[in-house]
Amino acid sequence: MKAFSELLNQTEFSKDDMMRILSAEENDEQLLFNKVHQLRLKHIGNKVYLRGLIEISNICSKNCYYCGIRKDNKNVNRYLLNDEEVLKAAEYAHKNKFASLVIQGGELESESWTIRIETLLRKIKEISNNELGITLSLGEQSESIFRRWFDAGAHRYLLRFESSDINLYHRIHPNDELHSYKRRMEAIDLLRNCGYQVGTGVMIGLPWQNIEILAEDLLRMKDLDIDMCGMGPYIEHHDTPLYKYKEELIPIQERFNLTLKMIAALRLLINDINIAGTTAMQCIDPEGREKAFKAGANVVMPNITPSKYKDSYLLYDNKPGSNDDEDDSTEKVLKIIEDTGFEAGIGLWGDSPHFKKRN
Ligand code: 5AD
Ligand code: SF4
Repeated sequence: MKAFSELLNQTEFSKDDMMRILSAEENDEQLLFNKVHQLRLKHIGNKVYLRGLIEISNICSKNCYYCGIRKDNKNVNRYLLNDEEVLKAAEYAHKNKFASLVIQGGELESESWTIRIETLLRKIKEISNNELGITLSLGEQSESIFRRWFDAGAHRYLLRFESSDINLYHRIHPNDELHSYKRRMEAIDLLRNCGYQVGTGVMIGLPWQNIEILAEDLLRMKDLDIDMCGMGPYIEHHDTPLYKYKEELIPIQERFNLTLKMIAALRLLINDINIAGTTAMQCIDPEGREKAFKAGANVVMPNITPSKYKDSYLLYDNKPGSNDDEDDSTEKVLKIIEDTGFEAGIGLWGDSPHFKKRN
């Protein structure tokens, strides 16, 4: 078998290669992180970009089996930020030179919701002199809605495919029209055709998942020619159908370590995309973000949702809530970036070079 260090110098990777990378331990794991760090400096530089995350609403029409804010969970205080609250958060991001926002929420498809988002997008552009870049993460929508939001000023969209394995997808979602694997994958193509920078991702450590499926996830991301990725460990939520399989999961620390290797493997596979260190990582390890940067991530999304709502956007147990506001303060995030040896991309949109080349 080829030496691991030789494998890391390849520019093309098979599924077996990816599986070997995801299985790396100790010395090999360190070689992987070192290699990825070099690649990152070469292809995207040492900057880490900030996106202010606004969790606009926890109202969702879907029932994903893993998610704490699924429609049928009656133990959730449902909320919807008003325009003033969103604009205030946007102003905060603008003033602190975050340069970009992510507006995330449960999936809703209606004309009034479409108009509400369109109006907000225009207002955010207006109050920031067009300086704030805007990413949306509002689930699957029709092509015409994706277009309307793009025309109103959004230029990036995050839609995780959750798993490229159709059987696993069906095991973690209800088997109905609303939770169609085909529609999810097609939506990613639609977004690209509308002109968005497209982001996707998966959860890591799901029941019934294995290294082979994760390797396929990475190769699918390459096939989809994505520009951005956010991946995080699966963390159980006590009010969800998937909770009953909690004894079958790999230990939480292993899910975290595997997420680091997924980030590194993705950076190896596609050198020039944006990869985020996610909240779910920070939830498991207080140094989750630092470790993610060292494994190849170059985006961080401090949560700037008004505090009083943070305790209601609980996708999984122990998600940072209003008590952890400090962790997402601008000073703390900037300090973490610098202490890890990176430079904060202050005032820069930080679009992925991959997207620029694609166009
Ligand atoms: N653990 C980790 N991530 C989760 N998400 C939803 N529920 C969970 C969970 N229990 C992720 C999904 C979704 C994103 C918004 O949050 O991947 O796409
Ligand atoms: Fe809704 Fe997204 Fe949660 Fe699924 S993962 S229930 S679409 S918020």
